[in-house]
Amino acid sequence: MDKRVLRERMRRKKRQLLIRKLTTLGIGGIGAILLVVFIIRGVILPIVHSVGGKEPGNTVEVQAQTAEADPNAAIRQPLKGQGDVGKVSAMTPGWHEDENGRWYQNADGTYFAQGFQEIDGTTYSFDNNGYVQTGWVSKGVRDYFFNDDGSYNPNERRKMLALTFDDGPGEHTPELLDCLEENNARATFFMVGPNVQAHPETVKRMAELGCEIGSHTWDHYNLKTLSLDQVKKQFDDTDDALIAACGQPASVARAPFGEWNQDIIDTADKPFFMWTMDTLDWQLLDADADYNAVMNGDLTDGSIILMHDIHEPSVNAALRIIPDLVAQGYKLVTVSELAEAKGVKLQNASYFGFWDSTLASGEVAGYEGDPNDLSDSGSGGGDETDLSDGSSEGDGLDDGSGEDDYSDGSGDDEEYLDDGSDYTDE
Ligand code: NI
Repeated sequence: MDKRVLRERMRRKKRQLLIRKLTTLGIGGIGAILLVVFIIRGVILPIVHSVGGKEPGNTVEVQAQTAEADPNAAIRQPLKGQGDVGKVSAMTPGWHEDENGRWYQNADGTYFAQGFQEIDGTTYSFDNNGYVQTGWVSKGVRDYFFNDDGSYNPNERRKMLALTFDDGPGEHTPELLDCLEENNARATFFMVGPNVQAHPETVKRMAELGCEIGSHTWDHYNLKTLSLDQVKKQFDDTDDALIAACGQPASVARAPFGEWNQDIIDTADKPFFMWTMDTLDWQLLDADADYNAVMNGDLTDGSIILMHDIHEPSVNAALRIIPDLVAQGYKLVTVSELAEAKGVKLQNASYFGFWDSTLASGEVAGYEGDPNDLSDSGSGGGDETDLSDGSSEGDGLDDGSGEDDYSDGSGDDEEYLDDGSDYTDE
């Protein structure tokens, strides 16, 4: 082999080594750059943000200083489009009225729409087109009343009830769901595992309609007679069946026979619900009697009503009760919606109902104050808005303790063993 060939080979070899080295360096370099990016985005930026004041807590502070940033506040809409032609003709700031209603012109040519807005110390609600709304206006789980002049009236309260149905679902539950849907109403279903397995489509529809998925355990035993491990299995198995049927576990629970203690609640790890009205429908088994039990019963705002959808008369009664209560002005909601509407953040505790008198007693776990007081969510002050007087507290409400209503004897389905114990658990 001559020297030239040898030299040529060595040169080639060197070049190869150099390329390999550069390639390795390149990959390593890219890796290093990616690592730095990850560190900056994942670690440094979050720290900078929290220190620099971009976390939600500080945002609220900023919002509190400007009325427009109030999450309750109406959106400022620029004047635009065909619908605004009439409005453009009156560019002076202040209230205006046309054939469609009243609206408010800001000095900068915008108008309020789609939300609540405080103007000169009074709260108004504006619709999507910017016109002021009167009567009941729904926002989240709550309804707010606005007088004929558009001003918010904190003393008008929409009466809310939670219908609850135990031991199902049953073969007549779909008719009940039809009725709820037709009346824009929702209910809570405390279901037992075997019936969930037997009617998965019904459970799925409940969830789709916004009804609340509740657990009434698998076997409907008196939980106080079980070990906590057995209690846990009762709820876990039922949750598994619920997840298979509707994709979610129970958000709330009701103890069979109303027999619970704090250990049981903590083991189930869900808020427990009793009731303010036991219709005794499982005993009456008569649609007329069931109907009268509810309509002549204590329908105080915040009540929780106990029925059983596995009985045909109960469902038939509910088909009349639901439209009639709605016609009387009641809003029918789930137990969690009722809690939220009444300012209660649910915990692993037992809830009986959400009457103003119960809330005022201070015994309701997680009660955070009257949400009718709109000034809470706004700029913090607001005494001058007359929104925080809370003066309707107790007006026309039964102030008697509800305890009596909870202890009126055995009250569950006779198909299950009833140990005859009553519902007092204290
Ligand atoms: Ni039951």
